[in-house]
Amino acid sequence: MTFPKTYRIKSFGCQMNVYDGERMAELLSARGMAPAQGDEADLVVLNTCHIREKAAEKAYSDVGRLTREDGSRPLVALAGCVAQAEGAEAQRRSKLIDMVVGPQAYHRLPEMIAEAAEGRRTVDTDMPAISKFDALPRRKRSGPSAFLSVQEGCDKFCTYCVVPYTRGAEISRPFVDIVAEAEELVAGGAREITLLGQNVNAWGSDNRDLAGLIRHLAGFSELERIRYTTSHPVNMSEGLIAAHADLPKLMPYLHLPVQSGSDRILRAMNRSHSVDSYLRTIEQVRAARPDIAISGDFIVGFPGETDEDFEATLRIVDAVRYAAAFSFKYSPRPGTPAATMENQIPQAIMDERLQRLQARLAEHSTAFNQACVGRTVPVLIDRVGRRPGQMIGKSPWLQSVFVTTDAKIGEMVEVRLTHALPNSLGGELVAMAEAA
Ligand code: SAH
Ligand code: SF4
Ligand code: F3S
Repeated sequence: MTFPKTYRIKSFGCQMNVYDGERMAELLSARGMAPAQGDEADLVVLNTCHIREKAAEKAYSDVGRLTREDGSRPLVALAGCVAQAEGAEAQRRSKLIDMVVGPQAYHRLPEMIAEAAEGRRTVDTDMPAISKFDALPRRKRSGPSAFLSVQEGCDKFCTYCVVPYTRGAEISRPFVDIVAEAEELVAGGAREITLLGQNVNAWGSDNRDLAGLIRHLAGFSELERIRYTTSHPVNMSEGLIAAHADLPKLMPYLHLPVQSGSDRILRAMNRSHSVDSYLRTIEQVRAARPDIAISGDFIVGFPGETDEDFEATLRIVDAVRYAAAFSFKYSPRPGTPAATMENQIPQAIMDERLQRLQARLAEHSTAFNQACVGRTVPVLIDRVGRRPGQMIGKSPWLQSVFVTTDAKIGEMVEVRLTHALPNSLGGELVAMAEAA
């Protein structure tokens, strides 16, 4: 087989995978390949997630579906966290996987593809000392809203979580490299940058912390918005909280997962924060930036979770009044301490708890959206809507906003929010003179 000409990359899981998928696309394009039109790619990269069992199983069923009606198939690369967790085992499970490449090794894809084109299967799940970032091409074009990975890996070892195993130890990219990439993104059209890391607020390099990095980026005149995710409660420093008070470009949104509202469960999860310390952090953040939207992650049915523990989770939801949230049933992951704990919770109980939790979370997110109606806010246009003349953008609180305007993608417009829908808001354009 000759070297493939077209590629398709499918990313699952968190934003760090989305970022990695973009970098892989840029890498393959720099080597002369083109994104496939339609379904007929010569190479398919499945950029996978290992966080819950369903996500991981999806990877294999997707591989199975790549064989075409005439029996031929594209070259297949398994990338991302399933690749890292399974390594060579993945190729024993499926004959259709030509390459297995981990999240720290994907800069080697071009060589692996050359090998695969000659019929040799390869595995690279190294976490090399020389960072992949040094081997990747520069960023050229960007949409209005760009992701930038600044921190990878995790040393926290929550007892349910695979990330410390699939992404390795916490590392921070050097300050100068991040600034250079941010400059490339802004020159390529980005107006908003979201700094990414599994524990992004633990970022530190060259005597700077995340607050220092954000303060520096806020000085870029063409960059209008800065966000960061995901944060860990124990790394929410005073300096970072203060940045929310001082920097208008730092958007009023904080994703701060809590997982459970029960101290007993938080201890069993090895979360290293308590309900009280979490609530105190939220209080400080709200004192610094009263209009901030708080979002969170929750797990129901962690081993040993009682009805009382679960009621405590509902109480913390009411106390914080989350603007948005992700909630999951606990999924036992191979190799993690929680997978072998006693008192695993039956599915039926998990189902019931998840339903009750999601209903409660929906009440708060609806209330948050409704409270925004009547306000006039800047909206960064990022998509074309379905109706004629309709555009879609993001509010400072990360809500999707629908508005009729002739503004183009990448422009910021002032919108009066007129009505709240379940997952978005509608609004009217405010005349520029009126807005000023
Ligand atoms: N580093 C981030 C995100 C980790 S993964 C953090 O600590 O918050 C994203 C979310 O997936 C977690 O916050 C958690 O709610 C969920 N999650 C992780 N492992 C899980 C598991 N084994 N079962 C169910 N949900 C899980
Ligand atoms: Fe997983 Fe915990 Fe690390 Fe988040 S902090 S990535 S949940 S181990
Ligand atoms: Fe999934 Fe890996 Fe992200 S396991 S959530 S893709 S770090």
